[in-house]
Amino acid sequence: MYSYPYLPFPIMQRLSLSTTKKLNNGIEIPILGLGVWQMARGQETEEAVRRALEVGYRHIDTAKLYRNEESVGKAVLESPLPREDVFITTKLWSTDAFDVEGAFATSLQKLGLGYVDLYLIHWPVPLFGNRVWKQLERLYDQKLVRAIGVSNYNVSQLKELLAFANVPPAVNQVEFNAFNHYREMLDYCTAHQIALEAYSPLTRGTQLDDERLVKIGMHYGKNPAHVLLRWVIEKGAIAIPKSSNAQRIGENADIFDFELTKEDTFTLDNL
Ligand SMILES: NC(=O)c1ccc[n+]([C@@H]2O[C@H](COP(=O)([O-])OP(=O)(O)OC[C@H]3O[C@@H](n4cnc5c(N)ncnc54)[C@H](OP(=O)(O)O)[C@@H]3O)[C@@H](O)[C@H]2O)c1
Repeated sequence: MYSYPYLPFPIMQRLSLSTTKKLNNGIEIPILGLGVWQMARGQETEEAVRRALEVGYRHIDTAKLYRNEESVGKAVLESPLPREDVFITTKLWSTDAFDVEGAFATSLQKLGLGYVDLYLIHWPVPLFGNRVWKQLERLYDQKLVRAIGVSNYNVSQLKELLAFANVPPAVNQVEFNAFNHYREMLDYCTAHQIALEAYSPLTRGTQLDDERLVKIGMHYGKNPAHVLLRWVIEKGAIAIPKSSNAQRIGENADIFDFELTKEDTFTLDNL
């Protein structure tokens, strides 16, 4: 049985871009991934994924909604890496809740990678009761996907899901950053062995000029993006920053050679 947040600092120092977290079914997910929301299908997505893989990322987060699954798959297939070295997440969009099998088959075909590592319900679909989750469980039982989970669920929705799930969700992907410190979710996920995946870990770029971040970063010779990403990782969450800029994709992975002091963590916890 694993438990992950609030790792002692000596363990923190050993984190790296290849560090993974064990999900509740034993599957390993890299703690830093590249998010590809709002990247145009084709050259932009392909170049970003290619760059990320070259830098050492082994985790890409896409979705049917992002319309770039083909480009993600193409970049992975064209890379020299074996398929199993790259962790791929995609998501079921709400309008497909009536045909989960069909939507999954389309995503799988667009990715062209044979299987999906993590398939998420992108947004809660309460009108469909537990039917959608049951269909994800079927995909999991058929070994078409290595882990299943949800996104944008609140605590009461997770409780409902856990009450009927045969396969508990491995992940809840939610907005989580130092300006949106969703403590209740982190605590609930930790207590129930659901990994928290932090989307918009960089606040979509909106808070990167914040003076407090700049000042904290100066302690370590790091920039505000590094500070925000390191804070997520030190919470035991998984971070999936998006960048389509080659330099920033590289920079965002440069968060494994420092650790936040207790004082800086306290400041960030309470922004
Ligand atoms: N499940 C969901 O409902 C959901 C919702 C939102 C997002 N997500 C996932 O989470 C991923 C990340 O979240 P996000 O895209 O909302 O926002 P984010 O990662 O917090 O921020 C991305 C923005 O920050 C900029 N940026 C990246 N690195 C930077 C750096 N080092 N310095 C300055 N600016 C930087 C990017 O611009 P450049 O590209 O120009 O670098 C982009 O504008 C998404 O791509 C998606 O995979 C999931």
